[in-house]
Amino acid sequence: MRFTIAIDGPAAAGKGTISRAVAERFGFAHLDTGALYRAVGVKAQATGRDPVDTARSLSPADLERDDLRTLAAGQAASKVAALPEVRAALVDFQREFARREGGAVLDGRDIGTVICPGAEVKLFVTASPEVRAHRRWLEVGGDEVQVLAEVRERDARDMNRADAPLRPAEDALVIDTSDLSIEEAVAAACAAVAARLA
Ligand code: CDP
Ligand code: CDP
Repeated sequence: MRFTIAIDGPAAAGKGTISRAVAERFGFAHLDTGALYRAVGVKAQATGRDPVDTARSLSPADLERDDLRTLAAGQAASKVAALPEVRAALVDFQREFARREGGAVLDGRDIGTVICPGAEVKLFVTASPEVRAHRRWLEVGGDEVQVLAEVRERDARDMNRADAPLRPAEDALVIDTSDLSIEEAVAAACAAVAARLA
């Protein structure tokens, strides 16, 4: 069976948490596409190499770096993600993953709009900037005001870029997790998937 679930939304909205839970519940494979952009950003910065070459030669080992979840990696990711040639270099891998036998969940910014416009289920997971920054601050620590500023900066860069800007697909179900527990958010997502599978 081929069945694609596209989960998009801004930073720290709960996309990854929901995606992992949905993939486990339905036995689908999961791809965190943000990790691709984080790996390109961090590796290009560390090596001084061109981000486009870095994206074209990205290897599985690059996704295993332990510095991909930092705020700095998020910023580096959103800068290289604005380059159309970087995005183009990552398209085939994501589309092949999406059409794998047995079902796939992909989370990112442009899965429902650009990578998999034909996805069987599209979710747009969001929450207020303050709630999202608080969640990210609980993970990374430091100064919460600074975390909020970085979340807002990254959202603005992702929404205002010319190529594949962050926005809900027209046919996406929007899930605002601001006032939802993880369990409630996962239940809403699973209900949408179960309805489409039925
Ligand atoms: O993938 P994304 O950046 O959208 O978010 P995430 O990494 O899934 O979630 C960010 C943090 O928010 C995690 O620590 C989650 O446990 C937490 N979270 C939450 O508190 N309530 C939710 N409804 C969803 C996520
Ligand atoms: O977990 P969080 O939502 O903070 O970020 P992420 O999903 O790991 O994505 C990091 C950055 O990569 C985003 O801010 C985007 O600039 C970029 N990205 C993208 O452009 N397209 C995607 N499909 C996924 C991520």
